[in-house]
Amino acid sequence: MKRLFAALVLILVASAANAQTAVPAPSQWKNQRGSVMQLFYWSPFSKRLYGTYTNNAPGFPRCAGRGYPLWGESDGKQITFTVVWSAPFLENCNSTTVWAGVIKGKKISTRWVLSYKDAAGNPKTLRGRDFFTLQ
Ligand code: BTN
Repeated sequence: MKRLFAALVLILVASAANAQTAVPAPSQWKNQRGSVMQLFYWSPFSKRLYGTYTNNAPGFPRCAGRGYPLWGESDGKQITFTVVWSAPFLENCNSTTVWAGVIKGKKISTRWVLSYKDAAGNPKTLRGRDFFTLQ
């Protein structure tokens, strides 16, 4: 009986630790800069996700205020996603941002790398962190 109880507790603890295996979609997330990530679709099979990203960040006036296509991958715990800052009918910033991080409940914590070209056409990168909250 004791062993059965111990096994049950083990199963419960293991499943609680494994609880977050799905990405909520459709869903809307906002980061500390006011930018908005819309996730339209996440596949539990391929792990791929699709959505849009609206940059509202102070200090990033280019490609702002409009939703750019976003795609990425997540197993429900780790997440990576990419935005290429050019799309039909939208400003082309000749830049790309890749975010990578972790999902914990209603929070996503990421590090990002923005790749762009400076005025002379030389490739540059900028790095930072974004923290998203489920709306
Ligand atoms: C560009 O300036 O070339 C395009 C816009 C980049 C916006 C960046 S991406 C990382 C950071 N987080 C945001 O929400 N916006 C800025």
